[in-house]
Parts: sequence; C-alpha cells; structure tokens
Amino acid sequence: MSPRLTLALAAILTLSGLAALVAQDPGASEKSVVPIGKAEAGQVVFVEKGCHQCHSAGPTKLPAVELEQRLVIELGGDVHAAWTRDDYARAIMDPNHLVSEDYKIAMIRLGDHFKAENSPMPTFAEVLRVNELIDLVTFLDSLTD
Ligand code: HEC
Repeated sequence: MSPRLTLALAAILTLSGLAALVAQDPGASEKSVVPIGKAEAGQVVFVEKGCHQCHSAGPTKLPAVELEQRLVIELGGDVHAAWTRDDYARAIMDPNHLVSEDYKIAMIRLGDHFKAENSPMPTFAEVLRVNELIDLVTFLDSLTD
C-alpha cells in the first residue's frame, strides 16, 4: 500500500471514529422523532406559554401563580423518569392521547368520569412554534436526567 493511500485510509478511519462518537449522543441512539433543542430556552417557553399555571417542573423554581384552587400536575418527577422527548411532545400535541394517571385518579375520586377521560389541558397547536416545542420538551426531558 502506498504511503499516500495509507494516510488517506487513516484519515477516513479517524473521521468514522468521530462519527461514532457523535452517534453515541443519547438523543441520537434513542431514535427520537424530536431532535435535541435548548433546555434553557425551553424553560423560558414553559413560563411564557403559561404551562406553570397548571404544572410543576421537577425542582425548577417557577414564578408564583395567582390562581385559587388549582390542581398542579407534576412534570419531570419520578412518574416521568422514563419519558422521552417524544412522549412529552405527544402529550403536548394531543393531551387526550394519554391522560395522566394522577389526574385520572383525582377525577375518579371526585366521581367525574368525563373529566377522567378528557384532558382539560388547552391545545397549544396554534400557540407553539416547532422550535419552541423542541426546546420545551428538551427542557422537560432534562429534568429527569
Ligand atoms: C389549564 C391547565 C393546563 C395548562 C395551561 C397546561 N396543562 Fe399540561 N396538563 C394539564 C392537566 C390537567 C393534565 C393532566 C391530564 C392529561 O394528561 O392531559 C396535563 C397533562 C400534561 C402532560 C402529560 C402528563 C402525564 O403524566 O401524562 C404534559 C407533558 C403537559 N401537560 C405539558 C404541558 C405543557 C408543556 C404546557 C404548556 C405549553 C401545559 N401542559 C399547559 C393542564 C394544563
């Protein structure tokens, strides 16, 4: 093998090694539909869009909400330890897809079976831009890392 060819091969091998390193990124290996966004920007979206009015977000300090009686649904806790960005995105895009167990149990205790099956969460389809959704779910997913 000529020295030039050896050099070229070595370069290709180094490059493919780098590619393998990049592929080890956890987001890439889990084959998610939603790419990795910016968690800090997602936290801003969470407050700007009013998610904190109904949700906590793990240990994140959120602005106080001036609503009387409200049911706070915890996000980013043990219940969501195995959730991926895709799971969060799905729950936000289609709240009725999977109504949270905590919420269901609370409504069944109140005897309200309609509410137990129908999420009161508003739709954000017209409210969130795609990049905001990506950052938002990256933020939520980062809470259980
Ligand atoms: C008016 C109150 C309200 C607002 C505002 C709201 N949600 Fe919800 N959300 C709920 C309720 C109640 C549930 C539980 C029922 C369900 O699973 O849909 C829920 C469920 C969820 C779930 C699924 C949790 C689970 O364990 O299944 C996610 C994720 C979520 N919300 C994210 C968000 C995000 C992100 C925002 C802001 C863009 C938001 N929500 C805004 C009321 C709200």
